[in-house]
Amino acid sequence: MKKIGILTGGGDCPGLNAVIRAVVRKSSQYNYDVIGIKNGWKGLINGEMELLTNFSVSGILTKGGTILGTSRKNPFNNQQDVQKLIDNIKKFGINSLVSIGGDDTLSVAYKLHKIGIPVIGIPKTIDNDLYGTDYTFGFDTAVSIVTQAIDRLHTTAESHHRVIVLEVMGRHAGWIATVAGIAGGADEILIPEVPFDIEEVCQKLRERYSRGKTFSIVTVAEGAHPKNEKNDNIENKSEVNIDSNVNKSGLIVQTDEKDDFGNVKLGGVGHFLAKEIEKRMDVETRVTVLGHVQRGGTPTANDRFLSTRFGVAAVELIKNEDFGKMVALQGNKIVAIPLEEALSKPKTVDMELYEIAKVFFG
Ligand code: F6P
Repeated sequence: MKKIGILTGGGDCPGLNAVIRAVVRKSSQYNYDVIGIKNGWKGLINGEMELLTNFSVSGILTKGGTILGTSRKNPFNNQQDVQKLIDNIKKFGINSLVSIGGDDTLSVAYKLHKIGIPVIGIPKTIDNDLYGTDYTFGFDTAVSIVTQAIDRLHTTAESHHRVIVLEVMGRHAGWIATVAGIAGGADEILIPEVPFDIEEVCQKLRERYSRGKTFSIVTVAEGAHPKNEKNDNIENKSEVNIDSNVNKSGLIVQTDEKDDFGNVKLGGVGHFLAKEIEKRMDVETRVTVLGHVQRGGTPTANDRFLSTRFGVAAVELIKNEDFGKMVALQGNKIVAIPLEEALSKPKTVDMELYEIAKVFFG
């Protein structure tokens, strides 16, 4: 009898419940049991589980978040946690594990695979930065939310003749900013992959003003940073208080704190940009930081569709005992790639796409 353990780790995103539902429904076709593990790796360490049935996953397809809860716990920071996790896998009779997560959660899955635990990974993240899959679910919903925000900001920016800077998530990849920026018609899109020069940004906006366009929308990814690592090109450092928010890698962060996986809390680049733009251009400028709104609420049809396909494919891999793999979307096909390959490097924004975005700058 197969008993599948399923968990969701890292930041939540729309589509997680759709995957859980798909795994449970497909498993029931094969008469496999599915055990829901609460709060990511933390729940596996603490033995927090519940049996998932077709009944318990009914009605969750359209719900955002994750019915299982999530955490950013990294068991490999503590050998005792790893031991507890392994003991619980045995204790609860789990003979395969479906780990739904981004690079952090899947890096734990890969380590478990290497010590002989049968795992399958499913890629989720609004950031769309997992290598080997064209898309992760959650991304399409985040892009829709950001695009709608850009649409709404247009009307108010135009009425007040303002620059509005919209800071969006994405960690060290500019996928959300680029795709939503193109879809929403942003006048500048700044992403981590292309460090910016603040004067060049202002120059583009000035050109726009000289054409009679008295408002602008700048979409900036939270991980975007100025060209010069030391920020020598930033005027009046003390006024914008930039020094205190820039970490050693030149990223603008909220605090120095790191999570269990060593991630910094990004945020603040929007405010930094707005102050610089206002000062250099003498145009009233405002900032909108969308934050976790981008991760909340109902998944789009595309995300539900992708999540469902991923969930069903993961159970097929378990049936075939093809472990250590991550399901992925390549072209229009769902494939399985080694977890090792998916984790080999981050997927950053395709520069051909960014060139398309640049056509519309200024
Ligand atoms: O990885 C998803 C993500 O939303 C990033 O875009 C963002 O930097 C981070 O998570 C925020 O994390 P938290 O939910 O812990 O604030």
